[in-house]
Amino acid sequence: MPTSLKDTTTLHNGVKMPWLGLGVYKVQEGEEVIQAVKAAIKNGYIGIDTAALYQNEAGVGQAIREAGVPREELFITTKVWNNDQGYDSTLKAFETSLGKLQLDYLDLYLIHWPGPDKNKYRETWKALEKLYKDGRVHAIGVSNFQVHHLEDLIAHTEIKPMVNQVELHPSFNQAALREFCKKEGIQIEAWAPLKQGQLFNDPSLIEIGQKYNKSVAQVILRWDLQNEVVTIPKSIKEQRIVANADIFDFELSAEDMERINSLNKDERVGPDPDTFTRDF
Ligand SMILES: NC(=O)c1ccc[n+]([C@@H]2O[C@H](COP(=O)([O-])OP(=O)(O)OC[C@H]3O[C@@H](n4cnc5c(N)ncnc54)[C@H](OP(=O)(O)O)[C@@H]3O)[C@@H](O)[C@H]2O)c1
Repeated sequence: MPTSLKDTTTLHNGVKMPWLGLGVYKVQEGEEVIQAVKAAIKNGYIGIDTAALYQNEAGVGQAIREAGVPREELFITTKVWNNDQGYDSTLKAFETSLGKLQLDYLDLYLIHWPGPDKNKYRETWKALEKLYKDGRVHAIGVSNFQVHHLEDLIAHTEIKPMVNQVELHPSFNQAALREFCKKEGIQIEAWAPLKQGQLFNDPSLIEIGQKYNKSVAQVILRWDLQNEVVTIPKSIKEQRIVANADIFDFELSAEDMERINSLNKDERVGPDPDTFTRDF
């Protein structure tokens, strides 16, 4: 079990990825993202999750340079957006992202959504394989891939994704996908771990929190860790960034883990990957 923000899971290619990182979706480019990322790194975070879509890669890069922590101690993820899918366009999108971040390598590059066209994400994946083989990125993965997308990708390409980043929280706990990924050695990463703020009034989570003297957010993030799920809560407030990482000093009992597991309603806050066709 991880005992600090520096603790990592080892991906199937041997690369080490932090269990807890900062997400920066909907964090404004410029001062807002710079301050959030610097606050996170100052308080011990090593993982940052951005995407071309978020339009804040330049600020993330600036914060990394100003944070005063050696680049190699950090784990930086970004993602290729849907309208850049395809072999050549993905290679180009990668250079654009890296240029904005002003980094010379990435730790993890993800396909943001599978989209409706299997051939397209397979071509996109081939570009990620090239970037990986060329040493431009230390690990490659996907996001929002369902079991059938993963089966297809594994059957038609060379390298198995190291990570699948998906919507995952107590209302949508992805039990079947987690089991599949565990069997395949693919690390699951939770986006919207806090259901974008929609779980804070849940009576069961409040009650469990009271028992351990922890907030609902801390209970959920701890549940992620105990389920071997990498998690990337977003906040722009330093106090919350710090609190969200204060989850290494308690352990949820098997009974409480089960109680949180049983809150599943298969209820998403984001789109269904099988029908999401924006910008393809
Ligand atoms: N791959 C994908 O398709 C995808 C999709 C969505 C998100 N993501 C990634 O996953 C990350 C996390 O998901 P998310 O940003 O959608 O949602 P989230 O992390 O579940 O929730 C963020 C919301 O919770 C609030 N919050 C955070 N910590 C809190 C705390 N301790 N107490 C009370 N409120 C708190 C934040 O507000 P404040 O900022 O005001 O604190 C914000 O409104 C994203 O930032 C992004 O990096 C990926």
